[in-house]
Amino acid sequence: MEIMSCLYKNPNAEREDRIKDLLSRMTLQEKIGQMTQIELCVATPSDVRDLSIGAMVSGAGKGPLEKQLPSDWAETIDKYQQAAVDSRLGIPLIYGIDAVHGNNRFYGATIFPHNIGLGATRDADLAQRIGAAVALEVRASGIHFNFAPCVAVCRDPRWGRCYECFSEDTNIVRKMTSIITGLQGQPPMGHPKGYPFVAGRDNVIACAKHFVGDGGTENGINEGNTVSSYEDLERIHMAPYLDCLNQGVSTVMASYSSWNGCKLHAHRFLLTEILKDKLGFKGIVISDWRALDRLSEPRGSNYRHCVYTAINAGIDMVMVPYRYKQFIEDLTFLVESGEIQMSRIDDAVERILRVKFIAGLFECPFSNRSLLDMVGCKLHRELAREAVRKSLVLLKNGKHPGKPFLPLDKNAKRILVAGAHADNLGYQCGGWTRYWQGGSGRITIGTTILDALREVMGEETEVIYEEHPTPDTFAGQSFSFAIVAVGEEPYAESAGDNSELVIPFNGSELISSVADRIPTLAILISGRPLILEPWLLEKVDALIAAWLPGTEGRGITDVVFGDYEFEGRLPMTWFKTIKQLPILTNGDYNSCDDALFPLGFGLKSGA
Ligand code: GLC
Repeated sequence: MEIMSCLYKNPNAEREDRIKDLLSRMTLQEKIGQMTQIELCVATPSDVRDLSIGAMVSGAGKGPLEKQLPSDWAETIDKYQQAAVDSRLGIPLIYGIDAVHGNNRFYGATIFPHNIGLGATRDADLAQRIGAAVALEVRASGIHFNFAPCVAVCRDPRWGRCYECFSEDTNIVRKMTSIITGLQGQPPMGHPKGYPFVAGRDNVIACAKHFVGDGGTENGINEGNTVSSYEDLERIHMAPYLDCLNQGVSTVMASYSSWNGCKLHAHRFLLTEILKDKLGFKGIVISDWRALDRLSEPRGSNYRHCVYTAINAGIDMVMVPYRYKQFIEDLTFLVESGEIQMSRIDDAVERILRVKFIAGLFECPFSNRSLLDMVGCKLHRELAREAVRKSLVLLKNGKHPGKPFLPLDKNAKRILVAGAHADNLGYQCGGWTRYWQGGSGRITIGTTILDALREVMGEETEVIYEEHPTPDTFAGQSFSFAIVAVGEEPYAESAGDNSELVIPFNGSELISSVADRIPTLAILISGRPLILEPWLLEKVDALIAAWLPGTEGRGITDVVFGDYEFEGRLPMTWFKTIKQLPILTNGDYNSCDDALFPLGFGLKSGA
């Protein structure tokens, strides 16, 4: 097709004119293809080309290559992009992944603290800088679309996705949405509210998720039901989305959860009348992974009706991701039978094309290999180390007033390092790292707490590491102090739902056994507050909530030895007992009076 005869191919033409021109040329088949997002493991270049598939996804834990190096991925993704560009109208793909705390699927990528730790920093500028770094590492791999940030407001730490949230407090979440202008770039002054924005090839298409109220489900049950008035839903859970729209977020992912018993993926009032019509969102509303299957019981049955319900509710792009031929067949039938209006299809495709034009993919559809050097680079690791430093919350410092335990002495004679989380990079990173559910041990490149201690301690210091110390550990030798790192093993989504919230692996007992013998700093590696028994609090000399810090363990030693002061403040109320959950006062979620540590608590070490 000649450039001049195709307005949509003219980069100097008005964007909305390009969209209209292209839409007018598309067949129903091509329109439906654009609404279809498929998993890499079922995709073929010929289907991408012939069906005009609009998007692909690498779901958690699946990848084309064992090594999963960014360079390998860029090659693979470019191959599918070439197929898309070779299609009749040459509409480029968008390829999506969950880069929720770095380009976390990739070996060697910088892994930043999970959102709960960023919430403890309350540092919007830091979040923006992290967004920009993540965008570079994602684009280096050839990926254009990041299913982040999660802007859920976690109202109950029993929820397995608590750590993916910035806070229980809506205003802290609102502040941290600044990560979007890092991921996508800063929209120019006067950029219309609700209109998507992507600055250039070093940026990604971001995704505010999961709309709306996923953090408010009863008892923190994942994909559960949020029961509230519309006013509370709007005030507590929807408010961050206004900030996301004001910052030009390009996509919004619907939530698996329900509001007052109605699933969000079937919720025309919230997805269309509120998000699109009232709030003026002009980007893509994308479904969650296999979320349409969840609209029927048994799951996946009566799929055609699920498609009918979700598309008419306002879903524009469906993360199918496997049975895409059935999705295409069902949607085609529904449009041809008039059960879904062509105007609904055109609205969805217009939004999809808008994001693709804004992201510059028609002009530059392929990966920018020059970015590969940015993956896991020193600059990004220093940024992650800064984020770790600022995220740590000091909960106890010394047993007697005026006698702080921290900062510790780098030149101590002999120290004991103990606990399952002292030398386990996978545990330190948490879920969504290399694998959906995370992993254990050296799953990527990084610095554990023990690595960091060995780097910073004086030449004369003897560092003794015992994951599980025994009486023999202590026999016949004295220690200046002990550092015991315990906490949760990695998890993601429903696997993290937990109604007990005790420190796993008998972490409390381990701390106790050490603290009975040696002055002890306890470091808790967890995605949320966990129960801290009074006797435990009594026994330790100091206690740090480190959340899920990621690969840069030096950020922990930076504050433990006083090179930097603690800045972190609790992003979640620290409850005393499960019976207090969810912590509600006066019908709202304020830190309750008899919390163990209230929202915003955090000590200084006096460094
Ligand atoms: C998951 C999550 C969502 C993620 C998507 C793709 O189930 O709910 O946050 O972006 O699927 O991996």
